[in-house]
Amino acid sequence: MTNYVYDLMKKHHSVRKFKNNPLSDDVVKRLVEAGQSASSSSYLQTYSIIGVNDPQVKNDLKEVSGQPYVADNGYLFVFVMDFYRHSLIAEEKKTDMDVSIGSTEGLLVGTIDATLVAQNMAVAAEDMGYGIVYLGSLRNDVHRVKEVLNLPEHTFPLFGMAVGEPADDENGAPKPRLPFEHVFHENQYNSDEEAQRNVLASYDKTVSDYYNKRTDGERSETWSDQIARALGSKQRLDMLDELNKSGFLKR
Ligand SMILES: Cc1cc2nc3c(=O)[nH]c(=O)nc-3n(C[C@H](O)[C@H](O)[C@H](O)COP(=O)(O)O)c2cc1C
Repeated sequence: MTNYVYDLMKKHHSVRKFKNNPLSDDVVKRLVEAGQSASSSSYLQTYSIIGVNDPQVKNDLKEVSGQPYVADNGYLFVFVMDFYRHSLIAEEKKTDMDVSIGSTEGLLVGTIDATLVAQNMAVAAEDMGYGIVYLGSLRNDVHRVKEVLNLPEHTFPLFGMAVGEPADDENGAPKPRLPFEHVFHENQYNSDEEAQRNVLASYDKTVSDYYNKRTDGERSETWSDQIARALGSKQRLDMLDELNKSGFLKR
């Protein structure tokens, strides 16, 4: 047994500053192939990947996300939940697939499949020495992303991923994760409230110390602070509407 993949994964941190060196076609192909090898629920393969290297398209997507690294990177991937090809089979085979494609289960299957592909690609890219950052910010305007990428019905843009050589002054580092005992439950979930609160208090201190150290005291928020801010505000409340418009989550 080697620790190679384990060590690689433990080194992960999101990279948000890239050199201006485009990925070669070969590298793009290898990454996509690595992604395609991920398991797929019922072999449905409910995803497509849009590779973006056109500066105009990148720029349009940057405007959606508001994040400069959506345009400034070595390459941009957009992960799309995709039942379009399945809908063609439905026509061909005269089968009503709307019950599946438009179901909540269909949404889960499509999202999970696309995410597994993306994470395979992330690990493969990091193995090649590239940095990556996922981009949920593309969902700021799903309608616009669909338009820019010319997405057909029965598809939905889930998130993007910027890939590239980290800039020389890119100084990200692995962020502390929740303790093993907190996320791993053996046989049954341990919902002991006091135990959970104690772990959270100690993790809050770890995260706050981490930010303090990395920012020379400029930032000291805890994980709970971040969670309260993120989950306490309304975000992208148009998702149900956008999913419905694309033929998803109808039942
Ligand atoms: C689905 C998904 C969407 C994300 N969207 C964004 C994004 O839009 N912009 C961004 O800067 N980071 C984004 N991230 C990166 C997270 O902020 C990051 O993974 C998290 O803070 C943990 O940091 P690390 O990746 O450096 O360990 C996203 C991550 C995931 C998994």
